[in-house]
Amino acid sequence: FPQADPTASPTPAAPSLGLVHRPRRNRKADWARRLVREAVLTTNDLIWPIFVIDGERRREPVASMPGVERLSVDEAVRAAVRAAELDIPVLSLFPFTEPGLRDPHGSEALRDTNLVCRACRAIKREVPQIGLLTDVALDPYTSHGHDGLLEGHRIVNDASVRVLVEQALVQARSGADIIAPSDMMDGRVGAIRAGLDAEGFEDVQIMSYAAKYASAFYGPFRDAIGTSAALIGDKKTYQMDPGNGTEALREVELDLAEGADMVMVKPGLPYLDIVQRVKARFGVPTFAYQVSGEYAMIQAAAENGWIDGDRAMTESLVAFKRAGADGIMTYFAPRVAERLQRGL
Ligand code: PBG
Repeated sequence: FPQADPTASPTPAAPSLGLVHRPRRNRKADWARRLVREAVLTTNDLIWPIFVIDGERRREPVASMPGVERLSVDEAVRAAVRAAELDIPVLSLFPFTEPGLRDPHGSEALRDTNLVCRACRAIKREVPQIGLLTDVALDPYTSHGHDGLLEGHRIVNDASVRVLVEQALVQARSGADIIAPSDMMDGRVGAIRAGLDAEGFEDVQIMSYAAKYASAFYGPFRDAIGTSAALIGDKKTYQMDPGNGTEALREVELDLAEGADMVMVKPGLPYLDIVQRVKARFGVPTFAYQVSGEYAMIQAAAENGWIDGDRAMTESLVAFKRAGADGIMTYFAPRVAERLQRGL
């Protein structure tokens, strides 16, 4: 669409409305739009989540997340090299645990030979300048697929927290820079902080998934880490009800009081109101997780030719910035970073 010459005089036949305010003036050309732009996305805003799988030289597509692959540890190191080249500050790691290694207690989470710990050590050795975020929750390791321990039909809180502290310590010892509890147990941030400090990990940060909702948008992620079939029931007794907003502020307040350095809202786009309220109320580093289902929706529509995938990706990420997010965890991280590097 060629741009009309904005300096051309109006058609004489068109009578002026005599408007004082013409907001369109500030949109008249690309330079003018760039000049007044409020929210800008940069590579510094990105956290790139990757899925790690056993083996070597192995890359395995995730069917419900076109463009995303599970990577063996050596391939994860290559991803870290790429992230560093793209100036992406942080990589987050999620394991696909072999079903034979899962049990009701999530014991594998506490072994420093698990995939996340191995990937942490390998990446720290080869690409020390990149930040590593690890998820604390038992679901990749439990046979029942829950984030905590199951007693009968109940997820027990305090016993789960004790195990989660151990999981966080195993990760910190392997080189994790940011511990990200995504389990939604009560009191876990304070317990993890105390555990880290007691072992001299005062500099390890905590980014709590403070407001994490019981969401249908996690579906493809559960495929990626192989817990969809395993999950018994749902996570509604610990993840939040989608109708609640004020409760999210309470969750954030508690996590901050317990020592969280940064907080996260999850999912992302359907919960932008929460991102905005959290940032406005607390003014702390606030992140959003554009989760697997959000990624899958954009990819699916783009693959069908129903939307322009690149534009929808960029627009969705700028929306997080506009809402007040300091950064976004997104599977689009490498793709959008490449475009940003090319000035697109
Ligand atoms: C684990 C966890 C989940 C996600 C991140 N950490 C799934 C869940 O709570 O069931 C979802 C991320 C995504 O959908 O991309 N507790």
